[in-house]
Amino acid sequence: MVSRRIFIKSGCAACLGLSGASLLNACATRLPMVKLSPDAGRVLTVPETSFVEGVEMLVVRTNTLENDILLRKVGERYLALYLHCTHEGVGLTPTAERIYCHAHGSVFDLEGQVVKEPAFEPLKTFKTEFNNHQILIYLT
Ligand code: FES
Repeated sequence: MVSRRIFIKSGCAACLGLSGASLLNACATRLPMVKLSPDAGRVLTVPETSFVEGVEMLVVRTNTLENDILLRKVGERYLALYLHCTHEGVGLTPTAERIYCHAHGSVFDLEGQVVKEPAFEPLKTFKTEFNNHQILIYLT
């Protein structure tokens, strides 16, 4: 039986053998994802129950948009960040600490502010509303 310490060491060593985007994707924390139905429209509806205990952020996927949305619960409000790089429009990879662009290395914080260029504009945010145990995300 492999001990936890050995497993962690070998897992990290395996990551070191990868490069670039593969490394980022392999080591990124997997966040819960909500996939909405194809006819979700311009107002996305995410059930409050998607935020089970211990979950403070999740990825929302809809075919209405080119890229996903990172939906965070921040106190009593919800923050919806469009995971679309403001440098050249590439899809972003969110983790529990930061949001990464594999194309040219931009990094954003969990408020959507630029931490590392070449992007210099913050991420687009969508208006949210909590209503009847559902989080509404307005795409307009
Ligand atoms: S497209 Fe994201 S850093 Fe260039």
